[in-house]
Amino acid sequence: MKIDYSLVSRRTFLNTLFGGWLLAFMGGSAYALLKFAFPTLGKEPDFILLDAGQYVDIPRNSVKPFAWGGKLGFFFKKSDGTTTALKGVCTHMECNISYRPEERKFYCACHKGWFDETGRNIAGPPPKPLEFLDVRIEGKKLIVTRKGIKVELPKA
Ligand code: FES
Repeated sequence: MKIDYSLVSRRTFLNTLFGGWLLAFMGGSAYALLKFAFPTLGKEPDFILLDAGQYVDIPRNSVKPFAWGGKLGFFFKKSDGTTTALKGVCTHMECNISYRPEERKFYCACHKGWFDETGRNIAGPPPKPLEFLDVRIEGKKLIVTRKGIKVELPKA
C-alpha cells in the first residue's frame, strides 16, 4: 500500500534529527567538563577522619550519619554496645536507607527493602547485604576506611 503523503515533513524530520544530535553533544560535553572540574565527583574515598567525640557517645541501638564521599554513611552502635560503620545506601538501586531502632533493622523506603542489624538483606528486592566499613579510634579521631585499607596517621 502506498502512502500519498507523510505526516512529518522532510524539514521537521531533519530538524528533529539535528536537534537530538546537538542535545546529545552538549550533554556529553557538559559531563566531560564536570568530570574535569571535579575529578573526585561520585568517587568514594579510601578513608575519612571524623571527630571521635561526636560519634562514640551515641546511645546503644542507634546510628549517626556522616558523609562518605557523596554518599551517606552511618556510624552504628549496636544494642550490645559494639560499634561499626556502614554505607547508608541500599544495595538495590542505591537509595538512602534509615535505621529502625524499634525493629533493629535498616529500611529502604524506595522499594521496601529490609536489612537486619548485621546488614543481611532479609526482605524486598535488595540482592545483597549492606556494605560495611572498617572503623577505629586513634586519639581524638575516628578513622573510617574501606575494608582492607590501612591508614596511618602522622604522629603529633
Ligand atoms: S533501592 Fe532500596 S529496595 Fe530498591
